[in-house]
Amino acid sequence: MKVLVLGSGGREHAIAYTLAKSSMVDTLYWTPGNAATRELAENPGLPLDDMDALASFAGDEGIDLTVVGPEIPLVAGITDVFHQNGLTVFGPTAQDARIEGSKSFAKQLMREKRIPTASSREFTDKISALKALRQADPPYVLKADGLAAGKGVIVARSLDEVENALTDMFDHRVFGASGLKVLIEDFLEGEEATVLALCDGKNILPLISSQDHKPIHDGDKGPNTGGMGAIAPAPVVSPRVMDRVIDTILLPLIEAFAEQKIDYRGVIYAGLMIKEGYPYVVEFNCRFGDPEAEVVFPLMESDLCEALLCTVKGELKNHTLTWKKGYACDVVLVSGGYPGSYEKEQLITGLDTVQGIENLTVFHAGTREAGKEVLTNGGRVLNVVGTGKTLKEAIDFTYSHVDKIFYDGIFYRTDIGFRGMKYFEKP
Ligand code: AMP
Ligand code: GLY
Repeated sequence: MKVLVLGSGGREHAIAYTLAKSSMVDTLYWTPGNAATRELAENPGLPLDDMDALASFAGDEGIDLTVVGPEIPLVAGITDVFHQNGLTVFGPTAQDARIEGSKSFAKQLMREKRIPTASSREFTDKISALKALRQADPPYVLKADGLAAGKGVIVARSLDEVENALTDMFDHRVFGASGLKVLIEDFLEGEEATVLALCDGKNILPLISSQDHKPIHDGDKGPNTGGMGAIAPAPVVSPRVMDRVIDTILLPLIEAFAEQKIDYRGVIYAGLMIKEGYPYVVEFNCRFGDPEAEVVFPLMESDLCEALLCTVKGELKNHTLTWKKGYACDVVLVSGGYPGSYEKEQLITGLDTVQGIENLTVFHAGTREAGKEVLTNGGRVLNVVGTGKTLKEAIDFTYSHVDKIFYDGIFYRTDIGFRGMKYFEKP
């Protein structure tokens, strides 16, 4: 088979790396890619926003399966364009990607099926939103309805902060149309985790759980980022919690899809808050998580290509997945200043010293090739991912390799997995 991966982050590297191991895959293509692409795949060098060029390439090249990594092309309708060209693609249509592209749509589905989530109200003007906020208790949770590059959620203790965010959205239109409808929702307490599940329109097949670490600093302090690291599986998602995720969230979601004639084919990302053993939905996304994919795929024993094909063909019913025992840990190396402004084009050294080590993989994100050198090219630069028999082993093993990589301004968290470790510490 010829398989094409779309995207350029650590998630796409993890997808491409796992697909490359599949006996079903003869030729792998990956675009726009990053400095790691050449090792694994052919890179046609096409940008993600030129959907027609991508579809023509896939048609001309005889691509059997295209796997879309990020949400922006999905919400923009890349799957629809590929379908119009008779191509097979993993990822929902634009209509179905609204589960991520419109928080209001996702909430409506959840309300109809009584899926546990924070209750919310919607506003399309600043004055009424402000009025509602003034009557609510902190912490306040304000969300732009549409995609906002991960910046559309404001969780704040002060009314001033949310008021400023509302001014940004309604008056300054910082998120364009995405911010002209907002949701104000109740604050959920608990511990966050992620469950990714393949969905073929009728059946749902969960992957192992994972846990992202979004804030920039240790101890979950500071502003949110795209993700500073992750572990899998997440100890907070015990077998009992996973059963509840399936029974109270994923199966009702599939029922909602059936009732609304939504033929969702792709992955559902359930961002969860777990409180006293009960899961609540924080958000649904229409794609694999980043950095969650980077810790989930290294533990996958099954053939990823086969699983993605079964999903697309509607054949998940009797499909099962097997997983390696143990844990994975991902420490994300970022550019100094991220998630604010940062410099690119810094020379990365030491990558050769972490190659070919068993149970260790470095997934590239914001990197680019310059001749024989590799330069930084984004906020999140590299993911150092190690596996181990225990969570502690995975964490210690991963951190023992992080210091071998260097570039000016390098920054990373030193406590990835700290929440997970609490489940193994004696009281
Ligand atoms: P999102 O972009 O929807 O993932 O939201 C970003 C982060 O905001 C989440 O990972 C949570 O930490 C936090 N968050 C979102 N909604 C809520 C909520 N209702 N209660 C508490 N925290 C929330
Ligand atoms: N790790 C957060 C996300 O992928 O949305």
